[in-house]
Amino acid sequence: MYNTAYTSAELSAYRKKVENHYADIFSAPAYIIVFTDSYEKYSHYNTHDGPLAAAYICLSAQALGYGSLYATESISDAAIRKIITIPVKYTFVCGIPIGIPVSWPEMPLKKRLEELTVYEHF
Ligand SMILES: Cc1cc2nc3c(=O)[nH]c(=O)nc-3n(C[C@H](O)[C@H](O)[C@H](O)COP(=O)(O)O)c2cc1C
Repeated sequence: MYNTAYTSAELSAYRKKVENHYADIFSAPAYIIVFTDSYEKYSHYNTHDGPLAAAYICLSAQALGYGSLYATESISDAAIRKIITIPVKYTFVCGIPIGIPVSWPEMPLKKRLEELTVYEHF
């Protein structure tokens, strides 16, 4: 069911935004797709291990001068499984496009410690 509350101008603007998003993502020269092994001995840690591995891949890419993106929806499990054959025992974590960005986003202001710290009570 479509949400008819949007005007056609809003829909076109949104379509353009999505097109640009995918044009950016699919301009990357390399992709790393992260999976965890559900039959692995310590698979109960997979919900931690997979995202940790992905985060280290992104950090390593940045340290080497590359940009990356942690993508779970833009690059989805279903889409990846249509392209490459992956045994079902592997659980999708994310797709990581990697490349040299046209430009780097501006670094957001670092939050002050007081904004992030809670002592004993929230
Ligand atoms: C679990 C998770 C899944 C994400 N999936 C996507 C995605 O599919 N597509 C996307 O563009 N960004 C996705 N993001 C967001 C980006 O990885 C990134 O965090 C976001 O662009 C903010 O980056 P910035 O802080 O550098 O602006 C996801 C983030 C997380 C934590």
